[in-house]
Order: sequence, then structure tokens, then C-alpha cells
Amino acid sequence: MNLAIVGVTGMVGRVLLKILEEKKIFIKNFYPVASTKSIGKTIFFNKKKYRILSLKEVLDLKPDVAIFSAGAEISKKWALKFAKKGIKLIDNSSAWRMDKSKKLIVPEINGELLSQKDKIIANPNCSTIQLVMVLNPLNIKYKLKRVIISTYQSVTGSGKKGLDQLLTEEKCLKSNKNFYYKINKNAIPQCDIFEISGYSKEELKLINETKKILNLSRLKITATSVRIPVIGGHSECVNLTFKKDFEMKEIRDLLLKYPGLKLMDNLKKNIYPMPILSENNDNVFVGRIRRDFSQKRSLNLWIVSDNLRKGSATNAIQILEFLKKKNLLIN
Ligand SMILES: NC(=O)c1ccc[n+]([C@@H]2O[C@H](COP(=O)([O-])OP(=O)(O)OC[C@H]3O[C@@H](n4cnc5c(N)ncnc54)[C@H](OP(=O)(O)O)[C@@H]3O)[C@@H](O)[C@H]2O)c1
Repeated sequence: MNLAIVGVTGMVGRVLLKILEEKKIFIKNFYPVASTKSIGKTIFFNKKKYRILSLKEVLDLKPDVAIFSAGAEISKKWALKFAKKGIKLIDNSSAWRMDKSKKLIVPEINGELLSQKDKIIANPNCSTIQLVMVLNPLNIKYKLKRVIISTYQSVTGSGKKGLDQLLTEEKCLKSNKNFYYKINKNAIPQCDIFEISGYSKEELKLINETKKILNLSRLKITATSVRIPVIGGHSECVNLTFKKDFEMKEIRDLLLKYPGLKLMDNLKKNIYPMPILSENNDNVFVGRIRRDFSQKRSLNLWIVSDNLRKGSATNAIQILEFLKKKNLLIN
């Protein structure tokens, strides 16, 4: 397989390379792409040196697959040109996620929707992926009625600039502001820009993408997203109401068995998910599971996952593996 990674020098791009190496995925020709400031520089992958190329060069080289991880504007401008050439595209940006003609895929949940015809495949937002991984098995059994989410998101979710701001502020140096406010020792109730509705773009992604992936267009769901000075993963406090009754033991068993989920819930030993435990791990961790006594058929839980792994790079590579396994890479 010939593979291009667009945005190879970014937070997600670097992790994509790491996962491809870890999984020893065979790549015949590798084409790394980044912005004009990086073109011509070199990058190491599988112990080999590669020159960073431009999007135009790579389009002409016609790889079999391109993973785009360079922001929505770049995806909007280039994705159709790649697709027209018959290049399969896995897109990490928000550009195509809510497009009715494009599939929004978490392989464990809806990989089976993929067909040979799908040229542009959308990878969901990081906070959405970890949420739906937990919601899906519970929804199948108890039917979701309402979801209330509060997120506590890592600075890495905002790319290299977000991480740079935190690391600079931690050294008490003056930083380039990526966030509107100082992030060190702070909690900012704003991830991305606000829409007229009063919700941030991140909150709307979480709401709309969850409905699309779970195929629950009428789900009652609301979200508040908060940026915190953390590296290693996003955390989510989630309150769920179901249409059907549940037993706590059944809930735990379902989550325990679901592929890609790790139950971390032992209050006697103070065991619960945290970003320092999820960093560099492909799993979604769930804990603090308890009945919400204030409301019938309701549950509280706490979900943590590395936004750069399952929240983006891992999920994209799993889509690639799924396409390979099902023989869907052939044009
Ligand atoms: N960070 C996360 O947790 C996360 C999770 C899910 C999805 N995503 C999405 O993944 C994408 C990348 O995020 P990130 O966090 O990796 O961002 P990042 O750290 O800011 O990296 C951006 C990457 O895009 C490249 N780039 C910028 N302009 C370009 C252009 N005109 N042509 C080609 N490449 C260009 C950059 O290259 P240079 O180094 O040359 O500037 C860099 O490699 C975004 O769409 C983001 O929304 C991120």
C-alpha cells in the first residue's frame, strides 16, 4: 500500500507515524505532507528518512490512501481532488463529518457501513469517539433517552499551539496565546469558537456527531466543553437516561466485554480513569459508574481517553485496517 499522511508534523500526524510503526503496517511508498514551512525538511519513519512533500506533489504521486490531519480548510480544498483520482481518504478534520453523503466511522460501532464506493471517510471528533464507545453498547441494550456531558479537555486537543502555550506558561514565560486566556492553573469553558446558539463548535460537534454515529437523530443530548491544563487525554462526566430499566451488574458486564473499552472502577482502592493513565493508550477508560438516584433509569459515569490515540490517530488507523481487512481498498 502507498500511503500519504497530510499534516505529518502535527500532534496527530506524529502519533499516526508512531502507531503505524507499532503495528508494523506494511507501507510500500510513504509520502509525508505538511505546510510550506516544512516542505523539503526531512522526517523519520520506520528508521528511514523522508522528505516532506507538498499536497500537489502527492496528488500527482497518486497514493492508494491519504490520511488528512491538517485542519478543515485543507480538507475542504483538497479532499475532492484526491477522491477524483481514486485515492481513498480518511479525514481527521471536521470538514466532511456532517455531510450526509459521507460516513462518520468508529470501526467497533459502524465500520460495517463502509463500502468500496466510499472515497472520503470521516474520522469523528476526539471527544465524540470516546463518548460513543461507551454509549453504543448501553444504547443497544437499554435505548438512550437523554445524554448530558461535561468535558475536561487536554490542551493537545488544540494541536501543537495549545501544548506550546501550556508548556511555556508552566515555565512562567510569556506565551503566544492559542486559547483566549492563560491555560496554566486555569479552566476555560470554551473549546473552539462560539456559535449564535451560545454553544461552542466543540459542543455542537459532540452533540451532532454522536447522533449521526449512533443513528439516533432524535436523541436528547446537551454538552459543555472545558479546556483544562492537562496532557494525556480528555475526560468526560456523563449523565445518561435510558428508556429501559437496567441492573448495575449488567451495565458493568456490558462495558467490560466491549472491545476497546477498559473498566476502571474500584472505589475501595481509589481506582478510576485519569488522563495520566490514558496517555499513549488506545483504550477508552470508564469508571465512577453509579446510579443517578435523582432520576429514573439514569446513570452517571466518567470516561477518559487519549485524544491523540483513540480520539484521532488510532481510530483513523483502525479505519485503514478495516478497509484492508474487508478488501475495500481496491478501486
Ligand atoms: N489534536 C487532537 O486531539 C485532534 C483530535 C481529533 C481530530 N483532530 C484534527 O486533526 C487535525 C490536525 O490536528 P493537530 O492537533 O495535529 O494539529 P497541529 O498540531 O496544529 O498540526 C497541524 C498539521 O497540519 C499541517 N498543515 C498546516 N497547514 C497546512 C497546509 N496548508 N498544507 C499541508 N499541511 C498543513 C501542519 O504542518 P506544519 O508543521 O508544517 O505547520 C501540521 O503538520 C485537525 O483537523 C484537528 O481538528 C485533532
